[in-house]
Amino acid sequence: MTEAPPYPQKRTCPYEPPAGYREIGERGPVLKVTLFDGREAWMVTGYRESREILTHPNLSSQRTHPGFPIVAPRFRSQIARTLALIAMDPPVHDVYRRYLNPHFSLKSVRRMRPEIERIVAGFVDRIVEHGPPADLVPLLAVPLPSLVICRHLGVPYEDHDFFQDASGKVMLGTEEESATAAQDLFDYIDRLVAEQIKDPSDGLLGTLVRERVVTGDIGHDELVSIALVLLIAAHETTSSSLALGVITLLEHPEQLALLREDPDRLPGAVEELLRYIATTDLVATRVAKGDIEIAGHLIREGEGVLVSGTLANRDAAVHQRADELDVLREDSHHLTFGFGIHQCLGQNLARMELEVAFKELFTRIPGIRLAAPVGELPILGAGTVQRVLQLPVAW
Ligand code: HEM
Repeated sequence: MTEAPPYPQKRTCPYEPPAGYREIGERGPVLKVTLFDGREAWMVTGYRESREILTHPNLSSQRTHPGFPIVAPRFRSQIARTLALIAMDPPVHDVYRRYLNPHFSLKSVRRMRPEIERIVAGFVDRIVEHGPPADLVPLLAVPLPSLVICRHLGVPYEDHDFFQDASGKVMLGTEEESATAAQDLFDYIDRLVAEQIKDPSDGLLGTLVRERVVTGDIGHDELVSIALVLLIAAHETTSSSLALGVITLLEHPEQLALLREDPDRLPGAVEELLRYIATTDLVATRVAKGDIEIAGHLIREGEGVLVSGTLANRDAAVHQRADELDVLREDSHHLTFGFGIHQCLGQNLARMELEVAFKELFTRIPGIRLAAPVGELPILGAGTVQRVLQLPVAW
């Protein structure tokens, strides 16, 4: 038996798992991997085993626990270790979710659709005006999630350059950049929350002030950390999924043709793309707060646990032709939004942004094609969000 393979590894193709993940997958569904700091952690690669462990009562999200696995230097910062929701366990975690879930339900998100359609149409207008070649990263993938979450929260979009830059650095910067950017964001939101408490606006922050701060359920500082997480979680993930989704469809013209034939296929295609591209790569980082038995292994209290979305989404035990993109697939169940109590709060919103953006882009610009070979597109990030830095297209 060779030693625990290194994790994470870099992708060379934006939508394909790194070559080294084949070995990790073959040694799964549960194995040990080596992290950048030389420590080992358990990794779960099987789809069923991932769901099983993510609902295990002995799994904890407490990032301040000494055994919590750190997958990249930037996650060592104090802010990263104390994030609202993401770094919390029940009961407080569940209370926060109860406050927030209604504002991200399918019903709430459907009400936002006309506005999201207007926003997307505006960005596509600008791409058309710009003319080919156009880089879809600054013209669509980055500003769309930013504008949508700012509108939803009631945060001034004038400051979007600052948010985009800061949340990008939090997720993908060096340790120092990430910590400084998180602190800058924190200070900014701190001022914003103070203003909202004095004079609540119509957005979600104002609503939370009226529903939860005025009632004494949560305080100023709690609202700041909730807003911080919402901003960080909404930006990079959606932006990268959008860019990776466009690349993947342009690289699979026969699949794109199926969507052009019948746009009603788009919601299913979005699910399949989310499965296939697995933007988040790693969908959960946890520590065992008690022993866990899984797939014949014993994970001991205090050991780190990682769940690989990339591998679980391609698990041949549950997906037929797992490595094939098939937008007509009816069972594209995936773990790209995680599973269990921490499952993505913004998933309905993300799905809608992707669906509306793909529809508008491929309808308005029928001749769209990649303006650079896919192997030359710069990608950043391993073990977390896969970020495409440039996406030049022509038509
Ligand atoms: C395609 C886009 C997105 C992807 C792939 C994604 C992925 C994920 C994943 C994998 C988790 C689970 C983390 C874990 O279990 O530790 C998560 C949690 C979360 N996501 Fe998303 N996300 C996306 C978009 C969004 C958006 C638009 C929002 C906006 C509010 C959002 C807010 C959150 C929050 C607040 C959590 C923490 C939930 C909790 O701990 O209870 N996400 N997301």
